[in-house]
Amino acid sequence: MSAEFPVARPRRLRRTAPLRRMVAGTRLHPAELILPLFVKEGITEPAPVGSMPGVVQHTRESLRKAAHEAAEAGVGGVILFGIPAVKDGRGSGADDPEGIVQLALNDLRSEVGDALVIMSDTCLDEYTDHGHCGILTEAGEVDNDLTLERYAAAAVAQARAGSQVIAPSGMMDGQVGAIRAALDADGHAEIPILGYSVKYASAFYGPFRDAAECAPQFGDRSAYQQDPAGPVGEALREVRLDLAEGADAVMVKPALAYLDILRQVRDLVDVPVAAYQVSGEYAMVEAAAANGWIDRDRVIMESLIAIRRAGADLILTYWATEVARRLG
Ligand code: PBG
Repeated sequence: MSAEFPVARPRRLRRTAPLRRMVAGTRLHPAELILPLFVKEGITEPAPVGSMPGVVQHTRESLRKAAHEAAEAGVGGVILFGIPAVKDGRGSGADDPEGIVQLALNDLRSEVGDALVIMSDTCLDEYTDHGHCGILTEAGEVDNDLTLERYAAAAVAQARAGSQVIAPSGMMDGQVGAIRAALDADGHAEIPILGYSVKYASAFYGPFRDAAECAPQFGDRSAYQQDPAGPVGEALREVRLDLAEGADAVMVKPALAYLDILRQVRDLVDVPVAAYQVSGEYAMVEAAAANGWIDRDRVIMESLIAIRRAGADLILTYWATEVARRLG
């Protein structure tokens, strides 16, 4: 039988900061934070992203600097998004050996590749003129299987350029299997795949589309990304399929609005689970803080703790370097 008041006083363990620190059940460590970075072809100065105060589209030079700073702060990895100067229907920049992401991956591998993990987002939306994540049919739908060939080519180009983790984010069926086969055939059996396994068609990606200049020119992504109101079992099925296709780690995205899904995925699998605190989550906090409506630093830490507690082993966050410094 449990003790009743006044014997039971939960406040005893909350009374002092050292007590609270000692009994804290959820801790963050810099090494489990991953910083998303944008690099744009053909610019000479970093370009601020209006809807994401503090985030920029990098030049190759400023990207190096940002990666060094992240490494110095103890951040676990960076994930690279490229914005080519020219886009076309098939997203040619995605697998061009001279494409911006490939050049930037090369830079980072040689400079910080031993200090943190260099990861790359593998998708087509940053590279296509129509802004969709794949190859379109004449009817304007994304053709799953034609797109898989493009993802495979992009993943191989990224691996050759120095990517140390391939992260396919396009939500095509079979993408992990197609990429695994292509990487293996090109001699990259050692490169892990972090699947964006559970990815919702979310309005929280709004600011990212400014940062990566990839808003769809027509329609939306609901025919390939998951419906926020869709069955929970669909999320778990996506995870199982990705694991069966060879994913080494899986991701849930966005983070804060999907903590229930994150917990269920964590309970389902025995591989590392990542969560992506996306652009809209970042922008909302920055905007409210800029108005003086919330305590910015506390809200950032509280949201990261919540994501960690829900089951994330790894967290992708635009605050990675700042938070790593604070934890350090
Ligand atoms: C697709 C991709 C997107 C994000 C990461 N990878 C955009 C989308 O699916 O529409 C969003 C990340 C964010 O909002 O921070 N390449």
